Amino acid sequence: VRVAVVGGGQNCEHDVSLASAAAARDALDPARYTAVPLTIDRAGRWIGQDGPLGDTPAASLAEAVRVLGTCAVVLPLLHGPRGEDGALAALCELAGVPCAGSPARAGALAMDKWATKLVAEAVGVRTAAGRLVTARSEVEFTGPVVVKPVAAGSSFGVRLVTTAEELAPALRAALDLDDRVLVEEVLVGREIDVAVLDDPDTGRRVGPPLEIKVPGELFDTTTKYDGSAGFTIPAPLSPGESAALTDAALRVYDAVGCRGVARVDFFLTDDGFVLNEVNTMPGMTAESQLPRMFAAEGLDYPALLDKLLREAMA
Ligand code: DAL
Ligand code: MG
Repeated sequence: VRVAVVGGGQNCEHDVSLASAAAARDALDPARYTAVPLTIDRAGRWIGQDGPLGDTPAASLAEAVRVLGTCAVVLPLLHGPRGEDGALAALCELAGVPCAGSPARAGALAMDKWATKLVAEAVGVRTAAGRLVTARSEVEFTGPVVVKPVAAGSSFGVRLVTTAEELAPALRAALDLDDRVLVEEVLVGREIDVAVLDDPDTGRRVGPPLEIKVPGELFDTTTKYDGSAGFTIPAPLSPGESAALTDAALRVYDAVGCRGVARVDFFLTDDGFVLNEVNTMPGMTAESQLPRMFAAEGLDYPALLDKLLREAMA
């Protein structure tokens, strides 16, 4: 089975995606799968096994689509805009090639943290109170807030603002990455992630929740990738909390229209679970959160990838 393993991408999570793609290529069972690597460079050009497929994004795209068409399935290990946001899923949908994970619509909705909020609240899942801001907005400091680009990932452009002086630079940093920015209340609580998998063998399942412990105040880009964050799997939760978490995760997963796999991130506050965000293609190295969650219940990384691919081809 030829699998197009797509990595890279035109956004700040380029390197994170390269790590996910390299790990997946190495882990695919060679008895069943032949990995066909495709990388999108920072300029948007597609690169194949033997080099660039064209001099420009447009020129290389034609050849990339031809290569995708020679594969039985696509493993889209792109994080962030122009990839995880449904762009690659849309290309595959147009080309008629099965693509693992969420369809274009769910990728687009989940990549938009503002739209995700509206959808989650509509199905009864709480999110942080927040305001949508653009370069034209007047924003006053009225207390601590988190500032984040509406569409980005790995916490790039995310800042905790605790003083009035920090607000303008934080807005500029977030507006550098997106023309829409969220200014949200600071949630106090435990950070708990949960993963949903459409398992072709057993049906939809929710993995054991993972709790994140960080040395500082934020699980930011540095602590995400420098190994300093601690993960506890399963997160210690009461049966009632576990049930509430599973219910909220599935409600959001369904409302957004996710498929295949997603990691749904929450804060457990004194008032219960509050949704932070949905990742339709979360970090996917063997050491990343979602593969570790499923590994903790006996589904190892190669088997997880195999399920994702078979679900897409079913
Ligand atoms: N956006 C990163 C890759 C994650 O959610 O794991
Ligand atoms: Mg994310």
